[in-house]
Amino acid sequence: SPLKNKSERQFMYKGTLYPSPLTSPENLQAVGNFEARADDILLVSYPKSGFNWMFHILNSLAFAAGITEKEHNAVWSINNHCVFLLQAISSRPSQRILGTHLHPDNIPKSFIEKKVKILAMLRNPKDVVVSYFHFQNNNPVIGLYYTWNEFFSRFIEGNAFYGSYFDYISAWNKKVNDENVLVVIYEELKKNMSEEIKKIAKFLNFTLTDEQIQSICSMSTFKSMKENSMNTHGEMGNILFRKGDIGDWKNCLTEEQSKAVDDKFEKHLAGTKIGDLLKY
Ligand code: A3P
Repeated sequence: SPLKNKSERQFMYKGTLYPSPLTSPENLQAVGNFEARADDILLVSYPKSGFNWMFHILNSLAFAAGITEKEHNAVWSINNHCVFLLQAISSRPSQRILGTHLHPDNIPKSFIEKKVKILAMLRNPKDVVVSYFHFQNNNPVIGLYYTWNEFFSRFIEGNAFYGSYFDYISAWNKKVNDENVLVVIYEELKKNMSEEIKKIAKFLNFTLTDEQIQSICSMSTFKSMKENSMNTHGEMGNILFRKGDIGDWKNCLTEEQSKAVDDKFEKHLAGTKIGDLLKY
């Protein structure tokens, strides 16, 4: 049974829990020394916050703006996989679009030193925990199964993979005014994709026509990405592109659980702009 080797399927690294099938202490150590380039673009997100959606948008923008020669689907995630892949990423031509779920304090320091442009994709906590639960329970690669109540408690206590959602959002909240950081909210992107995409293009200094923006929008809807997911993500596509809705948490969280999230959120983010934008 998968429960037998629960302990082998996860490990702690510097106080944070990680899934062994996706990364390793060696990889995380090597990531610490990763050499960023000043023109890199770094996508950061807590898991299940629309990382793959934004990665697709960034690649489409770069391709349409003539920055990258080839449209590619592979997600160049620096926290996952093995040291070998990290080496492959190191030798990719500029301008690179890279991604990570690492907590901002654990992002390789050369990204900070070189003031690399960072796009932070954030999503409301209740839909994140529901998406995370379904993802983990349907993902045979991770192979760790919990009941909803168990998973929810772990999430609230900061024992989900890649650490506490609440610490993560608080940490980015301190950086919202940094010149090299753009925060994009999942819910805003869903409600008004073309305006948000224009902001992103401006932040990256990409010049695109309105027509190009509209075409990227229509290729980036949930429906269109789900339909194409076999090509982009293989078998994982079915697990990854689940519902893509705002407010699915209402089908899952009890009133008590919803209040637990509100309390925790209030404690960390009361009165902040991001706190308000992520209240659902
Ligand atoms: P749900 O599980 O709520 O459906 P990540 O890529 O960070 O793992 O996030 C996955 C979540 O983003 C999933 O949420 C997925 O459906 C949603 N998603 C992916 N593409 C999307 C899109 N084009 N529009 C809206 N949501 C999308």
